[in-house]
Amino acid sequence: MSLLDLAKNRKSTRAFKKRPLPSPESILKSIEVALEAPSGLNCQPWFFLIVTKKELKKKIREYCENEEKSFHSIAPDYFKIWLKKKKISWKKPFLTDAPYLILVFSDMKCPYAIQSTWLSIGYLLLALEEKNIASLTYTPPNPAKLRNLLGINKRYSLQTIIPVGYPKKIKIKEKRKSIKEKVFLNAWKNPFILQNNKLQ
Ligand SMILES: Cc1cc2nc3c(=O)[nH]c(=O)nc-3n(C[C@H](O)[C@H](O)[C@H](O)COP(=O)(O)O)c2cc1C
Repeated sequence: MSLLDLAKNRKSTRAFKKRPLPSPESILKSIEVALEAPSGLNCQPWFFLIVTKKELKKKIREYCENEEKSFHSIAPDYFKIWLKKKKISWKKPFLTDAPYLILVFSDMKCPYAIQSTWLSIGYLLLALEEKNIASLTYTPPNPAKLRNLLGINKRYSLQTIIPVGYPKKIKIKEKRKSIKEKVFLNAWKNPFILQNNKLQ
């Protein structure tokens, strides 16, 4: 499959089957791709903590759901509307249903730590997609408190929790805006248009 097809197929999965993945190797191979991402001064600030233990997943879910409850109650109106439209509540069953959680940390002593870590996350999502593994980029509220709860040094900032596994049902990909709306040539808002492979 081309990279474009993988990118078009990838979508966020919020409901996972409890079924385990056939091999943990697929997770490690996907992370190997993430390790190839570019980073500021080649500092490679990313770290990946894979969580499989039931009890630990439960603890993470309990923490996240508590924080989500408070966050949902104070979220701005536009955000509440978006969440309602997407049927996203404070409940996060994917944190215990998905066979694996990949917690991604960024070493804050590195230059461009966050930018570089998110590049590696992008690589990871496509690598998982290539192996037909569903994922979600979940960003828990108050991640520093969760990092402390896990006993991890504050030098390492928790960026996201990526549950991975098999989707409960096939989802339709959320619409993307067109090249015309997003890509400009030489001047702001001047669309990048090709005709017969030539610039207009
Ligand atoms: C930085 C970032 C943070 C996100 N945080 C959450 C989150 O906390 N909860 C969630 O359900 N989805 C989260 N998402 C997923 C987005 O909602 C999703 O990517 C977007 O709606 C587009 O849908 P798609 O991934 O299916 O194409 C996040 C995505 C990104 C890139």
